[in-house]
Amino acid sequence: MRLNAYLARAGLASRRGADALIKAGKVTVNGHQGQLNDQVTDDDEIKIDGRLVQEQKPRYILLYKPAGYVSTLADPQGRPKVTDLIDISERVAPVGRLDFNTTGALLLTNDGQLAHKLAHPSFEIDKVYEAKVRGKITPEILNKLSIGVEFDGRVSAPAKAKALPDNVVELTIHEGKKHQVKKMLAAVGLPVVKLRRTKYGPLTLAGLKPGQWRELSPGEISNLLQ
Ligand code: URA
Repeated sequence: MRLNAYLARAGLASRRGADALIKAGKVTVNGHQGQLNDQVTDDDEIKIDGRLVQEQKPRYILLYKPAGYVSTLADPQGRPKVTDLIDISERVAPVGRLDFNTTGALLLTNDGQLAHKLAHPSFEIDKVYEAKVRGKITPEILNKLSIGVEFDGRVSAPAKAKALPDNVVELTIHEGKKHQVKKMLAAVGLPVVKLRRTKYGPLTLAGLKPGQWRELSPGEISNLLQ
């Protein structure tokens, strides 16, 4: 397989991230500097920065992200990271992002191929959010949200929008643009005061409290890809 796919499969980076490591000259294959089009097998000795790349056990984790954590792997401001909450030896990375103060369902894995598939817009995985908002939620606004609203010079794809008690909008979208829910709701005059993702595809938060996580079952992993 290609060198970048090998590194992604080992959970070390996305394929694009792996390409960047290769271009930066950090990867060696059997002692020679790795090239973007190198083909490798498990018999090759591959190192990053001189450290041997070892096959990791694939891990698939559903975290109930609490507020006050970043979902990036590094934070220039040194804020707490979601991966600080997961005490395992494999290096998992979040699939997509939730904002610092957004809570809810976040999938983390070291399976680069699965992460790549799920994060791709063509995959259209449904994500359900509950947004507590300021302002009056009207049927017209819900209708607008479901048809599509303009933000950042584009129009959102059709979505499902429903009013819940306590001035909460439940929004189901399959896109994942940065701050999408907050931007869609701001565009219809409903600024978000609190945001929680209650579902990621078929995965719900049942049985988890903020900060807790669990491993997915093989059935859940294959359901994600349906
Ligand atoms: N949309 C947002 O605005 N924020 C999130 O964290 C997720 C979706």
